[in-house]
Amino acid sequence: MKKKLVVLTGAGISAESGLATFRDAGGLWEGHDVMQVASLDGWYLNPALVLEFYNMRRKAAQQAMPNAAHLGLASLEADYDVYIITQNVDDLHERAGSSKVMHLHGKLNEMRSSKDEFICAPYIQDIRLGDLAPDGSQWRPNIVWFGEAVPLMNQAASWVSEADIFVVIGTSLQVYPAAGLAFMAAPEIPKFLIDPAVEEGYNMSDFNIIRTKAAEGVEKLNEHLKNA
Ligand code: OAD
Repeated sequence: MKKKLVVLTGAGISAESGLATFRDAGGLWEGHDVMQVASLDGWYLNPALVLEFYNMRRKAAQQAMPNAAHLGLASLEADYDVYIITQNVDDLHERAGSSKVMHLHGKLNEMRSSKDEFICAPYIQDIRLGDLAPDGSQWRPNIVWFGEAVPLMNQAASWVSEADIFVVIGTSLQVYPAAGLAFMAAPEIPKFLIDPAVEEGYNMSDFNIIRTKAAEGVEKLNEHLKNA
């Protein structure tokens, strides 16, 4: 039976595809504070701005291509049972060919009713104010905003706790509850952290640190796993 390799990814894995990370953009998106455009409060205050922001991000994600890191993780499926938990809302893991991808913070290619998270539809053209879901409420992107629960958290925690190998790539681990997943793997298993700027102060002492960008880091990970 193949070993279970669980990967937690963040914005850093899509950086080499041309999609900006959050912290590297100084917490600003096109001059807007992240909390204005990625929180429930922001949505209530200025839904038109929030829709414009996600309409833009959806197009950027669509135009981006998976990079060598996404592709490298997909190719690991030949030897491992790979589970990817991503905080990213782009679909670059899927487009690279990964078969088991969980989107903790939602997806940019789906929209949902603003009243009922289970009423969803493909998000294939811009959402405008006044575009209504079948329940009569405004369509909104199917993104988990600050101020909202993370419905897939329990399932993600169980994937991590069952891992035989655990890898964290390109996340600043500043946003909870997702960041807590980095510390939920069994103590004895091999763990790897790929990030060119590992922050001081994290207790990552049981991780093998690969201090490079994601594409090169996944290549190095492959070598480590082959030699292990
Ligand atoms: P951040 O922007 O906080 O962190 C990005 C991480 O990627 C940093 O640690 C960078 O050092 C690293 N990085 C930058 N370039 C890289 C590269 N080429 N290869 C590998 N790593 C690189 O992004 P996240 O941790 O993903 O949530 O942010 C977590 C959440 O905060 C997001 O999902 C989003 C945001 O607010 C919501 O929208 C709910």
